[in-house]
Amino acid sequence: MASEAKIAETDFSFSVDRSLIGQHPAIVRLRQLIERVAMADATVLITGESGTGKEVVARAIHGLSPRRSRSFVPVNCAAIPHDLLESEMFGHERGAFTGASGNRQGLFSIANGGTIFLDEIGEMPLALQAKLLRVLEDGVIRPVGSDRGFQVNARVIAASNNDLAAAVKNGTFREDLFYRLQVVPIILPALRERRSDIPLLVEHFLERIRARSPGRPLTVTREAMVHLWSYDWPGNVRELENMIERLVIMCEGDTIDTPVLPPNLISSSRMAEAQLPRKIPEAGLNLNALVRELEGHLINQALKQTGGNKQAAARLLGLKRTTFAAKLRRCGVIAPSPDGREDR
Ligand SMILES: Nc1ncnc2c1ncn2[C@@H]1O[C@H](COP(=O)(O)OP(=O)(O)OP(=O)(O)O)[C@@H](O)[C@H]1O
Ligand SMILES: [Mg+2]
Repeated sequence: MASEAKIAETDFSFSVDRSLIGQHPAIVRLRQLIERVAMADATVLITGESGTGKEVVARAIHGLSPRRSRSFVPVNCAAIPHDLLESEMFGHERGAFTGASGNRQGLFSIANGGTIFLDEIGEMPLALQAKLLRVLEDGVIRPVGSDRGFQVNARVIAASNNDLAAAVKNGTFREDLFYRLQVVPIILPALRERRSDIPLLVEHFLERIRARSPGRPLTVTREAMVHLWSYDWPGNVRELENMIERLVIMCEGDTIDTPVLPPNLISSSRMAEAQLPRKIPEAGLNLNALVRELEGHLINQALKQTGGNKQAAARLLGLKRTTFAAKLRRCGVIAPSPDGREDR
């Protein structure tokens, strides 16, 4: 029937390009990886700081997978009290514990045929980790208070915003489960490691607000954008998203300018002297070249301020020393070393 065909068409038109904004090479590679991983049924472990898009990625994997017409069931292991988590995940039988007045289906059963997203998996108690490992091995779940198990077919995607390898070392996370989960590991970059995506993300969030309140042209001045670019975004994309919402409420008229930015954002950002174009020229511009130029400028500035101390300069820019060194090489910046020698 035509209407069914239409539903089938729209149901399956998930687009990773629309949900995962970014042109930074790390994001381009991530989109390719998501597309590949979606087709396999392997368990995935997504790691990244808070607000980097772990849930966005998990939903994208599900949305592109053959399971997309079935449920995506998120479980926040940190938000559910430890003693309830097992029955939430696997269900329980009537009378299994005080207050268990009837049988209850667990989230694994609800995710049957689809995907279960175990968020903040590092918070899962050790005893439950052992049970989860068994489920991953044989696909059999056993409701609390039941002596019989049954088969479920749910794809597991897990996420953590802390370093699970460190949790394994200090004994709070099972090593065998860690390896079982990360059949495919996906590590999301912090926003400050892909600053070139900030203008794109700002535009994306503004576009969403414009869609809600048509008629507001909403623009960001060049100077305000430089501040947004230079800020460290410890809360990553979520913080940027909330900031844009707030700035739109606070701004006079339809232009977001520097005075409306919160002081901490301005003071922790380093004003770039690089000249950003006031308007995109008709002939277009080369975004990559412009980004490299700005990056080179900020790197030079950081080195100047730290007397050529690369470690301090990396810290100033919120970069790991190795990332900073790679950028130095790419930009061809010659770092003056503290003793006056030139060092590449
Ligand atoms: N690449 C991206 N493109 C567009 N929006 C993004 C992107 N990454 C994250 N977001 C948005 O940022 C917000 C946070 O993303 P998400 O909830 O996936 O982060 P998270 O890593 O799960 O964070 P937490 O660890 O705090 O749970 C969401 O509103 C999401 O839509
Ligand atoms: Mg999350």
